[in-house]
Parts: sequence; structure tokens; C-alpha cells
Amino acid sequence: MDRIIAANWKMNKTAGETREFFVKLRKLLSAPGKRLGKSLKDRIIVICPPFTAMAAARKGMRGLRARLGSQDIYFEKNGAYTGEISAEMLAEFGTEFVIVGHSERRKYFRESNRLVNKKLLAVLENGMVPILCVGETGLQRKKGIQEKVVGRQLKECLEGVSHGLMQKVVIAYEPLWAIGTGKNASPEEAAEMHAMIRGVIEGIFGKPVAKKVFILYGGSVNKDNAAGLSAMKGINGFLIGGASLDAKHFVDIIKKP
Ligand code: PGA
Repeated sequence: MDRIIAANWKMNKTAGETREFFVKLRKLLSAPGKRLGKSLKDRIIVICPPFTAMAAARKGMRGLRARLGSQDIYFEKNGAYTGEISAEMLAEFGTEFVIVGHSERRKYFRESNRLVNKKLLAVLENGMVPILCVGETGLQRKKGIQEKVVGRQLKECLEGVSHGLMQKVVIAYEPLWAIGTGKNASPEEAAEMHAMIRGVIEGIFGKPVAKKVFILYGGSVNKDNAAGLSAMKGINGFLIGGASLDAKHFVDIIKKP
């Protein structure tokens, strides 16, 4: 199975800074002896900049094996929704991946599973790939209800998705206590949740579909913990925040075995 390495820049980088990032990324990926070699052909690199830097990113990634992603979307087709961006607008722009249900959107903008579900369906209807984020808080883990919480998020956010389209959905398991804290889930903790998530998908969509779904881990991924995490069965890549802002650090993670 390929591995998806997705960068979530959040509210970071102007268009100018994005151009600088891609100049560096291009150098790092094409330096002699460092070219993305045969062994790394299976990496799918996705960059999700802020909306205002997406044009610079699209230009910057020309000729590179990188794909453009968005950090959010609105589910309505068009209309009086000041400040929002539709799926059609993103698809027309060349966006291939869209993050939905990130915990920061759930926390600061009160996004519910119901809203995330509508966004996810809009992404799929417009031929793009949703990256659906799920994860428990530290308190929920302390109480031992992480599987219940994540199971519910999955069921509610995936409602109405057909078996055919489910094969395109990417899930990102991002425990909230690990996001931006420098304290990642251990490889074992992450693998346990990934297996549980795959089990829930199997329960709803059947085994052949569940086997094909990419499940990423996110939360304080860096060049030191990436290899240990991706060695675990069922971890099919990463969604990376902080460590993806620096081109060198990001490439170091991409190159980890
Ligand atoms: P982090 O963020 O890598 O900075 O912890 C991950 C995310 O929120 O997607």
C-alpha cells in the first residue's frame, strides 16, 4: 500500500513564504543522491496551505510529485454564505484532497459530526478525496472511552457514503492530546486505534473496502518518531502540522522508511 504524507499548514505561511517553501522543497527533492528514488515512489505527498496561498502552492509544486489539498470546505453548492468556499470552487482550482473535521475546527468553530458529514459528502460528490479527522481528548482517553468516541465520530461523519466512494475516503486518527503538544501517541497506542477504526469501517462497509482505506496518524509527528509509527501495521501515512512547515524537516519525514 502507498503511504500518504500530508502537510496541514493551518493558519501559517503567506503566499510569499509558500513560494520560498517550494523553492527549498524542489532543491531537497532533487539534490543529487537525494532524489525521491524508486523506494519512495509509493509516497503520496499532499500539501494543504491556507486558501490565500493555494495558488502559490499550485505553481510551486509544478513538476513535483505533490498534490494540492485544502484545509476546509463548505458543503453548500453556492449562495449567500459569506466567507465560505464551495467544493466546486476547490475542484476547479485543482484541489485533490480536502481535510474535514479537523479538531481545531470542531473546537474553535463548533463543527459537529453532522456538519462534517455534509462537508465530506460534498467533497466526494465533486471528485475530491476527503481526509476525515477523528480523535479523542486527553480526558476521554483517561476515562477509557476513546474507542466509543472515535467510533461515533466515524459512524456519524460517514453516514450516507456509498461502498464505492468509501474506498476513496482517507481517515486521519488525530488524538487531541497529541496535536501540537510534542507528545505523540506511541506506535502501539496509534496502531491499536487504527485497528479499531479499520474494524468500524469493516463493520459498515465490509472487509474488501476496509482493507483499501488509508488511515493516517496525526499529532506531533516529527522526523524522530515517524519511522517507529509507520513501521506499525495499519498506519498508512501521516497528517503533519508543525513539522511540515519546514521543508527540510518535512522531507526528512517523507524519506523515513
Ligand atoms: P501537529 O498537528 O503535527 O502540529 O501536532 C497535526 C494536525 O493537527 O494535523
